[in-house]
Amino acid sequence: MQYNFDEIIDRSGTDSFKYDSCKRVFGTTDILPMWVADMDFRTPDFIVKAMKKRLEHEIYGYTLKSDSLYQSVIDWMKRRHGWEIEKEWIVFTPGIVPAVNMCIQAYSNPGDKVILQSPVYYPFFWAVDLNKRIQMNNQLVRVGDRYEMDFDHLERSIDADTKMMLLCSPHNPAGRVWTRGELKKLADICTARNIIMISDEIHSDLIFEGYKHIPYAMLGDDIANNTVTCMAPSKTFNIAGLSTSVLIIQNPELRKKFNDVVETLHIAGGNIFGFVALEAAYTHGDEWLTQALKYIEGNVDLLETFVKERIPKLKVIRPEGTYLGWIDFRGLGMDDTTLRKFMIEKVKVGLNHGPTFGSGGEGYQRINLGSPRIFVDEALNRMERAINNMS
Ligand SMILES: Cc1ncc(COP(=O)(O)O)c(C=O)c1O
Repeated sequence: MQYNFDEIIDRSGTDSFKYDSCKRVFGTTDILPMWVADMDFRTPDFIVKAMKKRLEHEIYGYTLKSDSLYQSVIDWMKRRHGWEIEKEWIVFTPGIVPAVNMCIQAYSNPGDKVILQSPVYYPFFWAVDLNKRIQMNNQLVRVGDRYEMDFDHLERSIDADTKMMLLCSPHNPAGRVWTRGELKKLADICTARNIIMISDEIHSDLIFEGYKHIPYAMLGDDIANNTVTCMAPSKTFNIAGLSTSVLIIQNPELRKKFNDVVETLHIAGGNIFGFVALEAAYTHGDEWLTQALKYIEGNVDLLETFVKERIPKLKVIRPEGTYLGWIDFRGLGMDDTTLRKFMIEKVKVGLNHGPTFGSGGEGYQRINLGSPRIFVDEALNRMERAINNMS
């Protein structure tokens, strides 16, 4: 079946965070929203069909997690990543951000240091701060048009109070799909220092031609023993509003500590429709995903070519995965407050503001490319017009 990613679906008035909170976030509704990370593509038919079937039963009481649900996760990890996991390792959570917070609570104490690598998905900062832990930032380094980890700085910065790391793999917003070599180097440092790795791999299914996602825990048993892997079908299949994700924790001690937090919060039950959608996605999703990735990569090509040819003051950091583009606006010579105002008032495109991703985000904006191409084209045309009209 050929899916139509060009289809335009009006999402306004559906309580969509991306569309219906523009007034609150940007101060105006006169803006093309290309910010928060969900896609404008129709949820795949096989997910809708499975949900409709369950909906028709008309009783939505507390649910069990079926064997077939677990099996769909096991099969997906094997098929997509070559990772053989066991049923006991799987823990379902109502989202990855809650899971990251719960990991911080399970594996560290107030005052402990948590490593993160800015510019990075900003709820990581909130999770560390709100749980009264201390951020230890190992800022990524831009080398040419690509970001790299600063292993020397990392090694120098870890001390006795450093207990955990939040790894974003693939990286949002830098678009890096970390190589086996990079992950191994990271693991050598962190495993030797007993750093517990929370590897947020929510974007791991969104990988472009020529790149390969390596689950961090696959690097070896000693590494897996120190790792919690966070996965989900939410970004991949555009079902983030169903708040259902999967943790893979091989080490029984780490799993027990995590499950203690789950029990305390009484959130093991889960959401019927989240489970139904997850199972359908992981069972039937391969073909849709192949087509979606091809389409999104076409959007990346458009972004890169358009900017190179028509807005050369900007610079695109081409993503190797994810549907997020990271654009360097520093060539416009604006400070961040001016840039934000310019994007809203003159360009009229709602992007994520670089500084929210922490240090290294200054002068950048993040664009969501999970949209019909016509939206990407419109956003680029608006940027070109506004930038060329600058006095
Ligand atoms: C790296 C990363 N982790 C987690 C999330 C959100 O996860 P959830 O909605 O499951 O809490 C996002 C969403 O953009 C993300 O980019």
